[in-house]
Amino acid sequence: MNILEALQALQRDGIAALEEIRGSGQLPLWYRTYLGRKGRLTQLLRGLGDLSAGERPLAGKRANEVKAALEDAFQARQEHIKAAELEVALSSEQVDVTLPGRPIAPGHLHLVTRTLRRLREIFAEMGFQVYEAPEVETDENNFELLNIPAYHPARDMWDTFWISDEVVLRTHTSPGQIRCMRESHPHPIRVILPGKCYRYEQVTPRSEHQFFQVEGLAVGHNIRLTDLIGTMREFAGKMYGEGRKMRIRGSYFPFTEPSIEVDMDCILCRSEGCRVCKYTGWLEIAGAGMVHPVVLRNGGYDPEEWSGFAFGMGVERPAMLQHGIEDIRYFYGNDLRFLRQF
Ligand code: PHE
Repeated sequence: MNILEALQALQRDGIAALEEIRGSGQLPLWYRTYLGRKGRLTQLLRGLGDLSAGERPLAGKRANEVKAALEDAFQARQEHIKAAELEVALSSEQVDVTLPGRPIAPGHLHLVTRTLRRLREIFAEMGFQVYEAPEVETDENNFELLNIPAYHPARDMWDTFWISDEVVLRTHTSPGQIRCMRESHPHPIRVILPGKCYRYEQVTPRSEHQFFQVEGLAVGHNIRLTDLIGTMREFAGKMYGEGRKMRIRGSYFPFTEPSIEVDMDCILCRSEGCRVCKYTGWLEIAGAGMVHPVVLRNGGYDPEEWSGFAFGMGVERPAMLQHGIEDIRYFYGNDLRFLRQF
């Protein structure tokens, strides 16, 4: 039998064998036998090399035709078999295609995001714009220019994640003050600076190594401590309800002078004394003060002409108060049982 006859026989056998196939499970074996890498067509093609130069072109052409014919026949048979199988499946199995699909549960905003939005809203009503500053900061902005030189013991107030000798994960939103002042000079400023901060701290129910702050900064002419206190009072009323009592204590921050701590009457126990207010009846809501002259100057403002106030408050803490959340670690634990409650 010469090679042309062998090709002819291969095509005939292959197509006959395809007709015999009843289920899609048998299709791969057929393919391997006839068209596979070690199949019959491949074997015949090996023989092409032995032909004379005169016979080779015709045999090659025929081989291609046989291959195409087998491929086409295979495709057609495969489609036919699959369609028949689907038909059987549809008529024997019960599928109610009119049943509604399972709903995809929509997500919602994280409690921190919602609290941030509320804070933005309240300060927007008082004319504060939002200024965004980066979470990765220079040592210079985070400390130096805020009047905290390397040797200063106040650095102990901020346990820091260092990226390199000069770069840190910001330990507070205050470095944004410098950026904002340098960009805004010589115009007055009234902004809040919300954002994530990081401290190299032991994680406990009360402190995380990541948390949000909202910083406030006002720079202008004749801005006084009473403006700061008034702003805090207005904020507390809007955030926690009218009629809040407020207490101002002297404090210390290197970048404010004088510095204060703002307390509010404990909304949980109505100042009767509870675990959350440590039986004092007061809750701390912000660190604050008048912008230090050195910081004003570092920001490009002449302290002889300009004055300002700044404050910094946590975001998780107020949310914990409002919702009776006892452990700050829930915020970043990604436990849906927690997240779904808000
Ligand atoms: N940056 C201070 C802190 O993180 C808070 C603060 C901000 C105090 C602005 C005074 C003025 O503790």
